[in-house]
Amino acid sequence: MKFFVTAAALVSLVPAILAATINTPTNVVECEPIQFTWTGGQAPYYLSLIPAGQPSANPLKTFPSQTGTSYSWTVDLQSGTALSAALKDSTGAIAYSDKFSVMAGTSTSCANTTVSEGGGSGSSSGGSSGGSSGSSGGSSTSGSGSSPSGSS
Ligand SMILES: *[C@@H]1O[C@H](CO)[C@@H](O)[C@H](O)[C@H]1NC(C)=O
Repeated sequence: MKFFVTAAALVSLVPAILAATINTPTNVVECEPIQFTWTGGQAPYYLSLIPAGQPSANPLKTFPSQTGTSYSWTVDLQSGTALSAALKDSTGAIAYSDKFSVMAGTSTSCANTTVSEGGGSGSSSGGSSGGSSGSSGGSSTSGSGSSPSGSS
């Protein structure tokens, strides 16, 4: 019974939401920024990059959830990598872009295999917390004082 009610509610909602579509990025060059843009759907959006045409493969990149309809990313995958962008919205619907490939640029120094991008999780200045124990061990003498200065 409850299931039926839920399904009916969903049906009444669906026509109000236009399915998301994500644009296929162009000029994807290693180490240069590109912008993903999309329309429709419902925030928040979950953007990821998957191997081209393989929706069930593990994503190569995942990005923090977005409330806007665009996301800039510095291409840090190797040239030659074939990708599709996958955009899931808050309804769970997933839109895919066409396939695109990373082109070689003037630099390869940014290649980064880390899957989870951006979001600033921990990378910024943190690390000041806790762990101060041990610095206070004042009971030990400085050591050198116990030995006689002139050993010979
Ligand atoms: C790779 O990207 C992650 C997430 O953006 C970042 O934390 C990490 O420092 C990067 N590694 C290199 C080698 O640039």
